[in-house]
Amino acid sequence: MAGIFRDNLLAGKVAYVTGGSSGIGQRMAERLAAQGAKVMIQGRDQAKLDAAVSQIHDAGGEAAGVAADVRDYDATETALAQCKEVFGPIDILIAGAAGNFPAPALGMSSNGFKAVMDIDLLGTFNVCRAAHQFLNKPGASIIAISAGQAQAPMAFQAHVCAAKAGVEMLVKSLALEWGREGIRLNCITPGPTDDTEGMRRLAPSEEHRAKVLRSVPLGRMGTRDELADLALFLSTEAAGYITGSIFHCDGGTSISGRGLAI
Ligand code: COA
Repeated sequence: MAGIFRDNLLAGKVAYVTGGSSGIGQRMAERLAAQGAKVMIQGRDQAKLDAAVSQIHDAGGEAAGVAADVRDYDATETALAQCKEVFGPIDILIAGAAGNFPAPALGMSSNGFKAVMDIDLLGTFNVCRAAHQFLNKPGASIIAISAGQAQAPMAFQAHVCAAKAGVEMLVKSLALEWGREGIRLNCITPGPTDDTEGMRRLAPSEEHRAKVLRSVPLGRMGTRDELADLALFLSTEAAGYITGSIFHCDGGTSISGRGLAI
């Protein structure tokens, strides 16, 4: 599905998407490929990577997968080098790999907290830091995926709140440091989005779902397609003067004042 934009906006571009074999990252990878970008997907699970790549191929796009954990800097750097070798310098980087589980602070070990900090925050740093040398500069666009928890504290989400708040500040800091090189960095902050692992974990029942919807001014869940369209916009020159910004695609949840109570 090409979305609402005219076709082939990203012809000749190279995109690299972490967490691109499932959920929001997968739909973004598909959208960029549908618009003509060559897409390299980084994930941890080879079978999921293969399936995601096949789906892009079946839709007529160009893609490849590389297995590496964003927590491992060296493995991530090697994967990014492989992308440059196979497809060329990277124009678009989406840092989408994330981990989450709902648990009270006293119900998670130090290692549980660290697992999410390492995937979400350190992982985003790792991929941005390692990708810098392989970016097509000037003109490269980096997009990190944040969450409403970055700004609205949420019970049972201390690890994610801390990690995603860090992601948003990391993106703003790197936007300051790398702006002169023509690298833009922005965050997409999804709200409650259908058909995602995050919602399956945070709102596993109809009761949870109804509760979540009460804090969404638009009164419905978002879709992965809507997030993919935003990522596409931020990947193009139409967003050429936008950097260091946080884009909420959340039906107004961030202004509802109640956050996403579980
Ligand atoms: N409640 C409390 N602690 C939990 C937990 C839960 N539901 N799930 C995992 N943990 C703890 C584990 O007990 C472990 O701590 P310990 O060593 O002290 O026992 C720690 O978290 C790491 O778990 P582990 O399964 O070894 O880590 P992992 O690196 O394989 O997985 C997760 C990382 C936990 C984030 C896992 O859920 C994951 O890989 N998620 C990816 C997909 C995802 O979360 N998608 C949603 C994105 S919004």
